[in-house]
Amino acid sequence: MCGIVGYIGSKNAVPVLIEGLDKLEYRGYDSAGIAALSGDEVVVHKYKGRLRYLADRIKPLQLSANVGIGHTRWATHGEPSDVNAHPHTSESGEIAIIHNGIVENYAQIKEWLINEHGVAFKSDTDTEVIAHLIEYYYEGDLLDAVYKAIDRMEGAYAVGVISKHHPDQLIAVRKDSPLIVGLGQGENFIASDIPALLKHTRDMLLIENDEVVVLTPQGVTIYDALRQVVERDVLKVTWDVAAAEKEGYAHFTIKEIHEQPKGLHDTLYRRINANGGFNFEQINIGADDLRQINRIYIVACGTAYHAGLIGKRAIETFAGIPVTVDIASEFRYSDPFIDHQTLFIAVSQSGETLDTLQSLRYAKQMGARILSVVNVVGSSVARDSDDIFYTWAGPEIGVASTKAFTTQLMAFYMLALHMGMLNGRMTEEGFAEWLEKLKGIETLAEQTLALEHAMQRIASEQFNNDSVFFIGRGADVDVSYEASLKLKELSYINSFAIAAGELKHGTIALMEKDTLVIALATQTHLYEKTVSNIREVKARGAYVVAVAQAGNESIKEIADEVIYIPQCDDLLAPVLSVMPMQMFAYYVALDRGNDVDKPRNLAKSVTVE
Ligand code: AGP
Repeated sequence: MCGIVGYIGSKNAVPVLIEGLDKLEYRGYDSAGIAALSGDEVVVHKYKGRLRYLADRIKPLQLSANVGIGHTRWATHGEPSDVNAHPHTSESGEIAIIHNGIVENYAQIKEWLINEHGVAFKSDTDTEVIAHLIEYYYEGDLLDAVYKAIDRMEGAYAVGVISKHHPDQLIAVRKDSPLIVGLGQGENFIASDIPALLKHTRDMLLIENDEVVVLTPQGVTIYDALRQVVERDVLKVTWDVAAAEKEGYAHFTIKEIHEQPKGLHDTLYRRINANGGFNFEQINIGADDLRQINRIYIVACGTAYHAGLIGKRAIETFAGIPVTVDIASEFRYSDPFIDHQTLFIAVSQSGETLDTLQSLRYAKQMGARILSVVNVVGSSVARDSDDIFYTWAGPEIGVASTKAFTTQLMAFYMLALHMGMLNGRMTEEGFAEWLEKLKGIETLAEQTLALEHAMQRIASEQFNNDSVFFIGRGADVDVSYEASLKLKELSYINSFAIAAGELKHGTIALMEKDTLVIALATQTHLYEKTVSNIREVKARGAYVVAVAQAGNESIKEIADEVIYIPQCDDLLAPVLSVMPMQMFAYYVALDRGNDVDKPRNLAKSVTVE
């Protein structure tokens, strides 16, 4: 997810672009750039780092132009760097483009352009092929060249195009990535999202899929896939900027909870190849490599560590390889046994958590192979790894990690299935069956979001508790730890998670009348055991809110309240059961008046040991 913006009109485009990008930085902030037609030259300024670095670099240049495009990046292909930053230009430098999305067949197009037409590429991005394709098809009609280029492209893209030969045109294209047009007097705008344009206009056009837009200072023309002109009603926007950045959600945290189905989709579908197998671009672990590996460590912190706990279950189930999960701040001081037959898996949203990074570097020193599951492309953990699995959750702004967690679970299911195929523990049929189950998760997650109102009500009844207990068995224990962490970091309630079977060995002493116990009972193979533990706390007066799979009626007899997630396989249930727990923590925090997106004492990325 990146942010794009464009301007054509009589004003100086440069400040309009910078201001617009500033409102889009929540979409990506690892590099930024602009391209503008200054005189009859296409000038490009782009740098790795936050937008303000770009702004500081171009300020003294006093650039002036009436047409330009700008981009703030969330890297997916090609690490954050000056050369991989957008805009990208064609070989002649006469055409510049910006892009949000992924050109999924970029490798084939790139190979064709290099081998058949000797095109010289500058970057590692998928995006650069677009600039070269447009130039390849350009014969004096920019719109025609754009149409021919997109005919070759597969994937998701919102693209902005300017050309030295067409100072009176700004062209944009939309396919499965957001694109809006802002209408002004003698000027017009494009952007990924409304916040970028609200300072200039409240008259917007929402561009549909497969539409191409030609903007001039005087007007805007929308064309459909068949190059027919399309009429579009003007949308009058009444939102304020802050609200718009959150796309109408009150906070980034609840917005990101609602983005989980998309994160799960993107993380999975972009790696399914034509044969129904997986394509892992940056993982080169083959059957021989895996045969060498006799020990796997999963090491991480906080929420990422909890994802690792479920990763262990997936790898041991699908690949039958023993896995040790450890918290990074303890790992390298526990004198772990590591050698060249060890696979060390680091998990991190930010990729900058120092405890995880130091553990990774220690394991590497000891000879381990390093695989990382990371959300931020080009982050330190990724750069120090031999193999990388990027979770495509998009930027996670809320300090409490939500969508990164569920995409990390998806990553582990996929990696475990892949390992099971490599070492023969998983059959072709078994793989195909599980792949269908993974494909179904996105829809089940959509359904689970419907629990929001129920969680808001339960939170309004329970937000005054000083302590809360989470219990579960099997994978439900792992989710209990994550649910408890979410509640702690968002509501500041002293909550506690424990394996349900462990209660009677001491913790049950804390149970008294109306003690709130949230019992996760989604593991059907452990259901009866969990029920007896729920009876134990009920017998001491606890108020029990249970989480169970749909169709499980009997639990209603023992719990005070039941939250039903859609039916699914036990191993996949954590993806769904964590979502009402995230929503519960969010609404309890709201009811307690906390700053949900920036909880006290916490940082989004902990870069100290
Ligand atoms: C989770 O909500 C917290 N923000 C925190 O526990 C976090 O998971 C931990 O600091 C690890 O961060 P990382 O995934 O960026 O490495």
